[in-house]
Amino acid sequence: MKIPVESVKIVEVGPRDGLQNEKVTIPTEAKVEYITTLADAGLRVIEAGAFVSPKWVPQMADTADVYRNIPKDPGVEYPVLVPNMKGLERAIEAGVKSIAIFTAASETFNKRNINMTIEESFANYAPVVARALEERMRVRGYVSTAFGCPYEGDVPPEKVLEVCARLLDLRCYEVSVGDTIGVGTPTQVQGVIGMLLQVIPAGKLAMHFHDTRGTALANTLAALEMGIATFDASSGGLGGCPFAPGASGNLATEDLVYMLDKMAIETGVNLERLVAASSIVAPYLDHPLPGRYLQACTRGGLPFATKSTALQ
Ligand code: HMG
Ligand code: MG
Repeated sequence: MKIPVESVKIVEVGPRDGLQNEKVTIPTEAKVEYITTLADAGLRVIEAGAFVSPKWVPQMADTADVYRNIPKDPGVEYPVLVPNMKGLERAIEAGVKSIAIFTAASETFNKRNINMTIEESFANYAPVVARALEERMRVRGYVSTAFGCPYEGDVPPEKVLEVCARLLDLRCYEVSVGDTIGVGTPTQVQGVIGMLLQVIPAGKLAMHFHDTRGTALANTLAALEMGIATFDASSGGLGGCPFAPGASGNLATEDLVYMLDKMAIETGVNLERLVAASSIVAPYLDHPLPGRYLQACTRGGLPFATKSTALQ
């Protein structure tokens, strides 16, 4: 197997994608502790939350407080999701330096997720990105449902390419290509990436795999073979979109780091400290963390910290 990638950038999405989908409310101070420990583990990009409608996603309502209370590591970027100008204004007020905008490759999902058609989302985001760049923010783009839509089924790769290219035209520094409901397979992933690479350099692409059907690591390997070197992942394997029925957790960061470590591909992430970060949120959840590496640790007797010890 030939992998043309020596190091991988991991975009940790646990505090956002991970926690947005949980029924329970995680206290703000626990989120801050979680993000701080993720940074200690060596993650250099950590999505800290989302300035979305608190009516639509109440789990992200405390993002401003979370963001303000993170002891910022100068080597770490803490992006937040922004769906519109109101979200950007909230981000500016909180002192945010990096945002992510998000649209989709399928109309029905986009409408359910942000109440806009794809076309409307670009009209909405153009002034948002212009203003964010004036504020010297970094802007990342997301394309959801790139491998399948929970409402429409198959999604044409040509549509994925069109939406990715439009996000880059808006001056996003990178586009994250999302398998929102975890339906993709390695051959499909290589097909989509092959089409994207005809127009977009690999360095501007990230892959965002949800692991709903257990294909996320296989899809990651397929993407690595194509030269993709940026992957979104969620510590503990948390994650899912409240507007994508059936979607479950992201690729677990621990599983990704374990595989890359063993393949001698550099990530800069310390696996033991990463487990410590996941152990901070674990006691608050109403279910076990789904990540496979973590489950193996637990079976091997490596205990999660309890709520009281995690927050000391
Ligand atoms: P809307 O209801 O159409 O918004 O929602 P509106 O503009 O009509 O405003 C309605 C009310 O919401 C108004 O308040 C606004 O002020 C308020 P009212 O006058 O009724 O009191 N409002 C806001 N409040 C706070 N922050 C804001 C904001 N905007 C409006 N930013 C909207 C449209 C986009 C806001 C809504 O649909 C929304 O927040 N959607 C976000 C959904 C979401 O967070 N989804 C999960 C993240 S995406 C994801 O998980 C996929 C990803 O992981 C990749 C992948 O896996 O594929 C990224
Ligand atoms: Mg996601």
